[in-house]
Amino acid sequence: MAEVVYDAASRIYTPGAKPAVNKLNLEISDGEFVVFVGPSGCGKSTALRMLAGLEEIDQGAIRIGGKNMVGVPSRERDIAMVFQNYALYPNKTVGENMDFPLKMRGMPKAEREKKVREAGEVLGLTEFLDRKPRALSGGQRQRVAMGRAIVREPQVFLMDEPLSNLDAKMRVGTRAEIASLQKRLGVTTIYVTHDQVEAMTMGNRVAVLKLGELQQFASPAELYDKPKNAFVAGFIGSPAMNLYTVPVVEEGAKLGGQVVPLTTAQRSAISSAGVSTVTLGIRPEQWSANGSSDGIAAEIAVVEELGSDAFLYGNLIDDPSQSIVVRGAGRSGARIGDKITLHTTSDELHLFHPETGERI
Ligand SMILES: Nc1ncnc2c1ncn2[C@@H]1O[C@H](COP(=O)(O)OP(=O)(O)O)[C@@H](O)[C@H]1O
Ligand SMILES: [Mg+2]
Repeated sequence: MAEVVYDAASRIYTPGAKPAVNKLNLEISDGEFVVFVGPSGCGKSTALRMLAGLEEIDQGAIRIGGKNMVGVPSRERDIAMVFQNYALYPNKTVGENMDFPLKMRGMPKAEREKKVREAGEVLGLTEFLDRKPRALSGGQRQRVAMGRAIVREPQVFLMDEPLSNLDAKMRVGTRAEIASLQKRLGVTTIYVTHDQVEAMTMGNRVAVLKLGELQQFASPAELYDKPKNAFVAGFIGSPAMNLYTVPVVEEGAKLGGQVVPLTTAQRSAISSAGVSTVTLGIRPEQWSANGSSDGIAAEIAVVEELGSDAFLYGNLIDDPSQSIVVRGAGRSGARIGDKITLHTTSDELHLFHPETGERI
């Protein structure tokens, strides 16, 4: 077990071009479960592979347990990786698949058998140890791949989209298993995903990346409640936060023909930022919709009825270019074409700089 530090670490595939990972700074504690999340191509896999020793660290350093990994070959880093495509050996049994990395290391047979048996127990694979991978479900095969990593008892686990090949239901179950397994083993783990729900439900802390740059590194709750910029605000949360760049007036911000009231503190923060427009962020559940006549008028275009709640998508009537998503009660009877009026309270609003996107 060990702490992991990215110290202004960069990977530059093409000299002169923008680095795939740019001066990444992260301090990951011993035993922590950290998730790297961001859209495709943002540098998640590259950052992980730099730690694994599968990509160069072109600038800066990465330290595992205080030791600089620059120039250290992958096999000497004491890490284990699980990928999306975790090819198992089809002709070996589950037990033999897990045993293989230990055998390669020249570990004595009795010790290997013990480790495989223990990993089998931890992963609920005991009854499958003598089966071939083809006789397992996708989720069970994924667990064998995890087992192969666990038996090595590494200092750090690295996982790159390990659940992408599973169907939705299996993914939810396996993600809970991985999270609880990680807690039990207490091994520092870095998990890569493009799925923000996976990131929010699994990580102690989540690093949000965009175009090779770290946007925010924080707990799921903090990312949700205090996103550092409009990108994080829009990326974390489903459906996404409503974001409106609108003019600031005396008492608040103008939206859909109404004034959304802002507190004195919010107005003075906007004026110290020196801007005359502001990006307002309102989460779907921060809109309340009712039939009263005051408030911001909107028309519903799509209703997503989920049973427990319903998401209403539509546009503001006074400014149809602005779309809305509102989280409402399930089975409210809302229908396409309905007109609703929306309210929100100022203390729930998120405010961002209209150009830089930074939180105000
Ligand atoms: N081997 C490579 N050579 C050149 N560019 C690469 C290579 N691998 C990845 N990239 C580029 O680096 C960026 C980050 O890629 P990657 O880390 O795979 O993103 P992610 O895992 O977040 O989808 C992308 O722009 C990608 O095209
Ligand atoms: Mg990737």
